[in-house]
Amino acid sequence: MSTVTATSCAHWNIEFDEHNIAWLHLDMEDSKVNLLASTVLEELRGIVDELAKDLPQGVIIYSGKKSGFIFGADINEFLELEDITQSQPFLNRGHEIMDKLEALPCPTVSMVKGMCLGGGMELALACNYIVASDDASTRLGLPEIKLGIHPGYGGSARSIQRCGPLPAMDLMLTGRAIPGRSAKKIGLIDDCVPERQLRTAATSFVMNAPKRKRPPFVQRLANNWILRPVVAQQMRKQVARKARQIHYPAPYNLINLWQRYADHPKQMLHEEAVSVAKLATSETARNLVRVYFLQEKLKNQGKKVKFEPAHVHVIGGGIMGGDIASWCAIQGYSVTVQDQDPSRLAQTFKRAQSSFKKKYKRDRRAIVAAGDRLMPDHKGYGVSRADIIIEAIFEDVDVKRTLYQDIEPRMKPDAILATNTSSIKLEDLSSSLKNPGRLVGLHFFNPVAQMPLVEIIRGNESDEEVVQKALAFGRNIGKLPLPVKSSPGFLVNRILMPYLLEAVTMVGEGVPPEIVDKAATDYGMPMGPIELADTVGLDICKSVAEILSAALDMPLPDNLNEMAAANKLGRKSGEGFYQYRNGKPQKNKGARYADIQKVQDRLVMRLLNEATACLREGIVESDELIDAGVIFGTGFAPFRGGPIHYIREAGKQKLADRMNELRHEYGDRFESDTAWAGL
Ligand code: NAI
Repeated sequence: MSTVTATSCAHWNIEFDEHNIAWLHLDMEDSKVNLLASTVLEELRGIVDELAKDLPQGVIIYSGKKSGFIFGADINEFLELEDITQSQPFLNRGHEIMDKLEALPCPTVSMVKGMCLGGGMELALACNYIVASDDASTRLGLPEIKLGIHPGYGGSARSIQRCGPLPAMDLMLTGRAIPGRSAKKIGLIDDCVPERQLRTAATSFVMNAPKRKRPPFVQRLANNWILRPVVAQQMRKQVARKARQIHYPAPYNLINLWQRYADHPKQMLHEEAVSVAKLATSETARNLVRVYFLQEKLKNQGKKVKFEPAHVHVIGGGIMGGDIASWCAIQGYSVTVQDQDPSRLAQTFKRAQSSFKKKYKRDRRAIVAAGDRLMPDHKGYGVSRADIIIEAIFEDVDVKRTLYQDIEPRMKPDAILATNTSSIKLEDLSSSLKNPGRLVGLHFFNPVAQMPLVEIIRGNESDEEVVQKALAFGRNIGKLPLPVKSSPGFLVNRILMPYLLEAVTMVGEGVPPEIVDKAATDYGMPMGPIELADTVGLDICKSVAEILSAALDMPLPDNLNEMAAANKLGRKSGEGFYQYRNGKPQKNKGARYADIQKVQDRLVMRLLNEATACLREGIVESDELIDAGVIFGTGFAPFRGGPIHYIREAGKQKLADRMNELRHEYGDRFESDTAWAGL
């Protein structure tokens, strides 16, 4: 291969092989991953211009990074776009470069290994052909919707042209990333081959330039102007189940774009840039970008030490312990689960099997392998070989203390002990240990597989290294670890509880539960507080509330006590605030209430005020971590950017005035926290 290095390029390198194919190799300077930053794009513009003057046999684009192809656009650049006068030229420039690449009159191929996301996928789509490796590290996707926009460098239009509207819209509307084989199946890419054959496959596309397959007939039919409005309406309905247009406009804009311009590819490209330019500077996009960075911040928490336990031992095979154990097995760890009651272990293994099937679908080998990693251990033999022991037994101080005294002599000297307690002070537990420094809290949320957050509780006596190891473990098992001070309710339950109690109080006053829930979902919560309480179980709500109400002076509403006493525990007992049929709450669609805004204010203000109190008490290190914890631990409206951010954005004085009004009407629980003024 003769080498012509484009010396002016910091990020790109070009080599010509014996067939006169130009191999464009992207290795972004000073970055672990390739991003489609402005400088990378501008260099590409120059290269494509040069190639157009002296046309090679073909062009193959590939990555020089081990981490993958291209992770997407540089999100930091989005933050600098103040308004449409800046975002429109920014988007247009991206389009121009992609158009130039697409217009090159020689075959162009993207050769993908590893992550190919967002702008990276859009660049690949501007090539004639895409080949990808079939290994597990390769994932292709257009996840822009998660940042409040949709693909804006031509990817919306080109993905639909390539594989038809149904798979392309599904990919864009869900934002999920798919493996090479699935991408081939839906026609997003042209071939998927083992890594060792990638170069041969890419070369062959250049040399043979085969005619690209059209999308299948069904896809072309869905694109037909007569059927399109019906299909689009169906898509809108599906999206509406998850996201409201007023909160998340991007998916609706994308559907409109397709419905209106599918017959005019050039105009669709143009309108795509116009749509994304508007979305990119919207409040929603800014806040979702903020949430993305908060997520990165949490992911970075576990990086100070390396901690790769060879064996994990879980004690307690109940709802939480069982699910924690199967989650760890899915993440590749060897795990033993101990329970005093063998019948609970049998249930754990039944549930684990269905989790494995859900995760690996029809991949029998992966299901069997995960099953092999998870071992029942009624007698607790795993204690002596574990590097981390996760305790998830009954929420009872004495039972936990007795267990610790029993297992400590058998633990490896440097093994850490992590408790999943949701309400017991760590200090009350660690005092039963000879080495109290080895105890840390690892507070998972229910359901374990779906909740991304895990609170890492630092007790007064926890060794710093133990805390760091727990953070690293949280990260290794694919969760977002949040370091939290040991204090009643930790962060998430504490902030959630006043909001839940206010909801229950309102139902006690006669506000229909449907209205209370609607007020919360209108604000952007994923589920209303009453339905949430019923789902968690009113007995569990009551016991957490009792612990917190003592510590934080929050009286329990009478109706919560009454419901729990009458064994109306929510979904699990078939009746709580709602009646349940087949696990679904029977809601009264005709429920009405005069002032739903006030209901929403009462709920939200309690939550915001508690978040402010946590900031004052230093429950977590920073206001950003409060926002991150509440978003990832409760699902708090991500498009609002988190409670503290919301107070600042909505206007702290305006909200404080509203709190004051509520205080006059409902009492001191609406007194704004002293930290409010300093926000
Ligand atoms: P659970 O009652 O479903 O399971 C507890 C299990 O521990 C039972 O299977 C029991 O047989 C076993 N067990 C009790 N004492 C034992 C001992 N000495 N040795 C071995 N096994 C023993 O309880 P759940 O809900 O799983 O809760 C466990 C822990 O997780 C508690 O500390 C709870 O506060 C915490 N937690 C619970 C959440 C939830 O939503 N249920 C959420 C977050 C934390």
